Amino acid sequence: MKALVVGATGLVGSAIISSLKLTGAEVFAAGHKEIELTDPKSFVKALEFNPDVIFNAAVFQGVEPCEQDPEKAFMVNVHSTRVLAQYCGENNKTFVYISTEAVFDESNQPRL
Ligand SMILES: NC(=O)c1ccc[n+]([C@@H]2O[C@H](COP(=O)([O-])OP(=O)(O)OC[C@H]3O[C@@H](n4cnc5c(N)ncnc54)[C@H](OP(=O)(O)O)[C@@H]3O)[C@@H](O)[C@H]2O)c1
Repeated sequence: MKALVVGATGLVGSAIISSLKLTGAEVFAAGHKEIELTDPKSFVKALEFNPDVIFNAAVFQGVEPCEQDPEKAFMVNVHSTRVLAQYCGENNKTFVYISTEAVFDESNQPRL
């Protein structure tokens, strides 16, 4: 399996990479240097890796920074996630996004 991990240098991204390596998966670890989520053109090289699955563990963190720069918060946390999810849907790939029940309530049910 080929896996692209976006947000590879973060807490969750690096944990995903450690777990993937145990499975023998081929991993493209994309930190902020490899992918800038506000710039979809920067996705090209990572997508040329032709991953079977994309894990998006990137995030623009913090209530205050997001309130101060809502455009960037939308681009990083919403728009780029949608772009990657649509790419996966259109290309028969799996998309994995780790969120939090603080956003999706406490039902623990995925919203599809
Ligand atoms: N940590 C938890 O306990 C936990 C629990 C449940 C869910 N989650 C969810 O998991 C996801 C990741 O959380 P985390 O704690 O791992 O966050 P984190 O440690 O802050 O990592 C965020 C990652 O996103 C990258 N990033 C930030 N802005 C970017 C941009 N514009 N373009 C590309 N990459 C960018 C960061 O790179 P730089 O640092 O180089 O900017 C970093 O690699 C979030 O959606 C969070 O809600 C986390």
